[in-house]
Amino acid sequence: MNTILKTSIDKLISHKLLNKEEFVALLNNNTQELRNKLASHATFTKQRYFSNQVYIRGLIEFTNYCKNDCYYCGIRCSNQQLSRYRLTKSDILSCCTKGYDLGFRTFVLQGGEDSYYNDDRMSDIVSTIHSMFPDCAITLSLGERSYESYKQLYEAGASRYLLRHETANIEHYNKLHPDNMSYQNRMNCLHHLKDIGYQVGCGFMVGAPFQTTENLAEDLLLIQKFQPDMVGIGPYLSHKDTPFHNQPNGSLEDTLLLLSILRLMRPDLLLPATTALGTIAPDGREQGILAGANVIMPNLSPSNVRQQYSLYDNKACFGNEAAEGLADIQNRLQSIGHEITINRGDAPITNR
Ligand code: 5AD
Repeated sequence: MNTILKTSIDKLISHKLLNKEEFVALLNNNTQELRNKLASHATFTKQRYFSNQVYIRGLIEFTNYCKNDCYYCGIRCSNQQLSRYRLTKSDILSCCTKGYDLGFRTFVLQGGEDSYYNDDRMSDIVSTIHSMFPDCAITLSLGERSYESYKQLYEAGASRYLLRHETANIEHYNKLHPDNMSYQNRMNCLHHLKDIGYQVGCGFMVGAPFQTTENLAEDLLLIQKFQPDMVGIGPYLSHKDTPFHNQPNGSLEDTLLLLSILRLMRPDLLLPATTALGTIAPDGREQGILAGANVIMPNLSPSNVRQQYSLYDNKACFGNEAAEGLADIQNRLQSIGHEITINRGDAPITNR
């Protein structure tokens, strides 16, 4: 490894930050040796902050209707091939009950931007979950909404919100999204969520179409500036019924490298090994944990709808992506020296 890179790695470990050029150089020299070195430092850092504990979140994908038409996403409104579903309030509550019995203490309600779930319906669902499961955290991932809407849902009992920024570069943002969506609005939403008091997660796809190494460096710098509590990243995976169906998938190796960099930048970050990582390789999630991730989000949705939440082709949703497979997940984590904690796993206060 050349000395410039070695200096960058040392700087990342000691200063927890690099400048854009240094990030670009690190990402462009993506060798196995470099990735292994960063992964072992990231694991060491993670152990210091979280021991060998992995947080679990029960993911409930409650609607695949979406008004948006993002070019990369399988549930985009123009996809006529997809059959659409909505879970009722009672379906959602049954998922939570099942999840609670399995040991989950965080429920993540994720859906497309579906106007059926207006503020009143959504706050009713949130406040019911909050009163039925007062010891659980409720995370929402419902896309862009107004400040008032976010506030109402916070007051109803949600305390965390996941909204990937998708890319920190405006031109790149505009290549991934139609004209009626804007980077500015996305960032405004993220700032509103933070102002209201949510623990906030942003994130991006690794290897998204038209993404450059500079764009990835910009994502890392944005994360440094915005200071989210969580960061969700996974490889871009193509979906056959989208305009980007011919675009190549992102890589496992790049995603692992970015997980390690994020862990070194932010030792206390909540960093999931995402479903996309578990889809691109059978042991992708374990590899993610060994690269620095510390959260997994098994699927708690009713099994008959799971395949319809098809963000990309072959999205994993059974086996060890499924909440029912928790014993198997536990075994697999144990085999790599980790274990599940049922602790709610709030972001450390210092982090907000
Ligand atoms: N490949 C990988 N991730 C995707 N997402 C949407 N479509 C894809 C895809 N084709 C991610 C986006 C979005 C989240 C819900 O899923 O980053 O924010």
